[in-house]
Amino acid sequence: MSSPKDLAAEFVAWLVGDSWRMISFGGSGVALEMIEDKSVILVTGGSGLVGQAIKALVEEKECQTEYSKKETWIFLSSKDGDLRNKLQTEAIFEKHKPTHVIHLAAMVGGLFHNMAHNLDFLRENMSINDNVLYYSYKTKVRKVVSCLSTCIFPDKTTYPIDETMVHNGPPHPSNYGYSYAKRMIDILNRLGESHQIIVRLRDSTSRTLR
Ligand SMILES: NC(=O)c1ccc[n+]([C@@H]2O[C@H](COP(=O)([O-])OP(=O)(O)OC[C@H]3O[C@@H](n4cnc5c(N)ncnc54)[C@H](OP(=O)(O)O)[C@@H]3O)[C@@H](O)[C@H]2O)c1
Repeated sequence: MSSPKDLAAEFVAWLVGDSWRMISFGGSGVALEMIEDKSVILVTGGSGLVGQAIKALVEEKECQTEYSKKETWIFLSSKDGDLRNKLQTEAIFEKHKPTHVIHLAAMVGGLFHNMAHNLDFLRENMSINDNVLYYSYKTKVRKVVSCLSTCIFPDKTTYPIDETMVHNGPPHPSNYGYSYAKRMIDILNRLGESHQIIVRLRDSTSRTLR
């Protein structure tokens, strides 16, 4: 199982990748140049387990490169606004004007919580995802990285799994609501014709969810 720190490194690598563009490609290799814009990276669910791991990584001294000085990182908690609410989500995007979003905020729970509140898991997470991805799309955020989870994959599947297999059959009934809300992130991204990227947390099964 990857540690939260490894997962955080994966997220940051995706973002750094977006900060460079290829200016030539040939026999002598590939030349890249840095995109000079200032980046504002908004982390929804920034007070949670994964969000705090990303924050620790960003604050590590060895991550303080010349480039990172051009980044502003915002770690949100639910105290900054309820992402189930359209107006509050819109206000967050207007206030911070993010160029990048790492979307972690979610109603997360363990097996018995999921089984007892499947409808709430569906509705709350659908609202959060719809609002965050819609305002990212509307405000032309350059890249959004969203978290899936291995527990949302088809109950009957073959291993290894990857994100192309996410819609290939129903999830386990114990977490129907959570799973279908997560799966809709992929649909929202596709329909938004965006360049958003989905990252699946590779380590987790429903056992590791809290
Ligand atoms: N941890 C895992 O093992 C695991 C495995 C697979 C997938 N994931 C996915 O990874 C992501 C992060 O998980 P995590 O373990 O870091 O979760 P977590 O510790 O439970 O944190 C959840 C975060 O979401 C925020 N949040 C919840 N409802 C909100 C709302 N209505 N409005 C605004 N913010 C809200 C919480 O804010 P407050 O702190 O203010 O409540 C918190 O920052 C989630 O999308 C989860 O589904 C996690």
